[in-house]
Amino acid sequence: MTRPALPRLTLVDTDPAELAVDAIIVGVHSQDGGAPGDLLLASGAESLAAAFDGRLTRTLSLLGATGAAGEVVKLATLATVTAPLIAAVGLGAEPAGAAPEPEVLRRGVGAAVRALGGASRVAVALPTPDDETAPGYVRAIAEGALLGAYRFAGYKTTPSRRAAVTSVAVHVPEAGDRRAKAELRRAAVTAGAVAHARDWVNTAPNELRPQAFAEQVAAAGAEAGLEVEVLDERALRRAGFGGILAVGQGSAAPPRLVRLGYTPAARGSGRRVALIGKGVTFDSGGLSIKPAQGMWEMKSDMAGAAAAAAAMLAVAALKPGVPVTAYLPMVENMPSGTAYRPGDVITMYSGKKVEVLNTDAEGRLILADAISRACEDDPAFLLETSTLTGGQVVALGKRISGVMGTPELCDRVRHAGDLVGEPAWPMPLPEDVRKGMESAVADISQVNAGMDRAGHMLQGGIFLSEFVPAGVQWAHIDIAGPGYHSGEPYGYVAKGGTGVPVRTLLQVISDISEG
Ligand code: BES
Ligand code: ZN
Ligand code: MN
Repeated sequence: MTRPALPRLTLVDTDPAELAVDAIIVGVHSQDGGAPGDLLLASGAESLAAAFDGRLTRTLSLLGATGAAGEVVKLATLATVTAPLIAAVGLGAEPAGAAPEPEVLRRGVGAAVRALGGASRVAVALPTPDDETAPGYVRAIAEGALLGAYRFAGYKTTPSRRAAVTSVAVHVPEAGDRRAKAELRRAAVTAGAVAHARDWVNTAPNELRPQAFAEQVAAAGAEAGLEVEVLDERALRRAGFGGILAVGQGSAAPPRLVRLGYTPAARGSGRRVALIGKGVTFDSGGLSIKPAQGMWEMKSDMAGAAAAAAAMLAVAALKPGVPVTAYLPMVENMPSGTAYRPGDVITMYSGKKVEVLNTDAEGRLILADAISRACEDDPAFLLETSTLTGGQVVALGKRISGVMGTPELCDRVRHAGDLVGEPAWPMPLPEDVRKGMESAVADISQVNAGMDRAGHMLQGGIFLSEFVPAGVQWAHIDIAGPGYHSGEPYGYVAKGGTGVPVRTLLQVISDISEG
């Protein structure tokens, strides 16, 4: 099962009208207050418009283009320019005096590349500002193209024969620009990591039980040059990882804890970053079993671990100036004669005693152990991500993650998310919700002691906070909604695993590394 490789990226500065490619992507803006069908060609496509003697926008609007964001209209060029096909992407109304937001371009290019399956060589002629923000636009365009080109190989005995886009040339004023080249490389590494995360999430859960997941992550990590350690069930037992063992004990496939480490060549300066991701390879709910409706989607309950592991692969290539270590607990949450029960009291890796009330709140138990383990290595920053609660989806929907933790790092996550197109919103950790988790018999109850679902996402955050030592900046990113896309594709997002929050993690790491 091999996925088609992501397209190769290049920069070009030759006239788009003369580019020998199969298709060129251009942008169109809608015009508020204009006559119906009034379109505005976005900058970057001037020479193409000239080759059409000024008829390009009129032709596009005859074909139905309105400039609305997300729209793609294709036009055969009939030898007016070298490329046989133009794909015009809607970019919405033109922002006054400025280039559109990078995310608008990222999404537009993604949608166009999805619509261009069959074209092998694609060029992009879109507006990029003429200032110091230009390289960021190159990166957004390149990321949009690569992520839009992503397809999961799948399991069909007769695979789709639709050709994949093999190369993407991004048109810029100066193809030799060093900063633009660096952004292009960064985009390729980042999109490669996102594709890796998506592949792991999309893999069927019978093919990715904890042992297989751990083996794949370890192999990818070793190949990338990372330090790799895998604890099996015996090692976990010896070390006392009570949370991971309790959740894993109901499955015939025993749990794992994978550690991936990156150390910068120039040592000393950097404050350590820890990444933690929830790796529940399938969440049936355990004895507190989930309803059948939609249970299959719980194959995506390892999206956090997939994102953290994939981010590490990119870290190995991007080589930030700070050490980064990932801790990935992997379990299958199943009901069986050996499964853990509501009512069980478990001794966590930290020694804390936790009263289990609902075996479906399994994520926090394995994450708490991973957090305690991570903090033995003295991180300054701890970023944890998980498909933790349905409450996140209720509160923020399917496209905005919830962030809880220490204010400064939460802010950083939110700003990084805005920059890369992975929006996240801060959530509080209120004292009364903590009080509701007082257990009558143990140190803390795993969920509200009366099983009250109020502030359900916050209960998850509060439980985890109990395992983070003072002095560590931490952020918990709940991606229950954003980690998996079950609707029709849009922008650069395909059906299935999204790879959220790989790009946020990488952005935060690079922010920290740059001081
Ligand atoms: N993996 C789920 C959360 C989830 C729900 C992820 C929907 C993606 C989409 C998690 O383990 C879970 O089952 N949470 C419970 C917690 C409850 C029992 C306290 C939930 O959200 O209902
Ligand atoms: Zn779960
Ligand atoms: Mn669950």
